[in-house]
Amino acid sequence: MTTAQVHHITHPLVQHKLTLMRMKDASTNSFRTLLGELSMLMAYELTRDMPTTEIEIETPLERMRSPVIDGKKLVFVSILRAGNGMLDGLLRVVPNARIGHVGLYRDPATLQAVEYYFKLPDSVAERDLIVVDPMLATGNSAAAAITRLKALKPRSIKFLCLLAAPIGIQTLHAAHPDVPIYTAAVDRELNDHGYILPGLGDAGDRIFGTK
Ligand code: URA
Repeated sequence: MTTAQVHHITHPLVQHKLTLMRMKDASTNSFRTLLGELSMLMAYELTRDMPTTEIEIETPLERMRSPVIDGKKLVFVSILRAGNGMLDGLLRVVPNARIGHVGLYRDPATLQAVEYYFKLPDSVAERDLIVVDPMLATGNSAAAAITRLKALKPRSIKFLCLLAAPIGIQTLHAAHPDVPIYTAAVDRELNDHGYILPGLGDAGDRIFGTK
């Protein structure tokens, strides 16, 4: 794995859609739709260095060798529950990818991550993992999830979020300096409840309409 970097995805389409998602009056439907679209756009950047192999094909005119990806080698690992909101968009771009789930809840007193669910496809050692959670807040959940995933010795790990707080980046980077972070924005700070400011509120509640 490479040295960690923060990849700030500044593409105007990504920034535009993120602005719409931040608005407090965005409906559940539009928040979810925008998150799906953003996930597709960010997948483009995430998969930039994905290996390709050439296969022999026939165009209407002649035979040629042309590159394809092996989508099955990719695993999108959702940190429950908000990570699930990014899966549809990612799968539209890489439909053969496998899916993993890691369930962690944040202890409200300590803000530390506690695991309650863990399910990954087999043969993780042959696969590239992209761990997804829209919000990199304290960084504790992401760091704990990645510690757990590294025990399975995947070929590589990347982390994808929409918004990152500086402390979240520091925490994740300190625990896993080899894991690159892809984000659409780095916001100012966390409030006393661990929410990102200015942020977009509770991503899970906004995706699933639970508040
Ligand atoms: N999780 C969220 O959903 N929102 C935040 O601002 C921080 C963590």
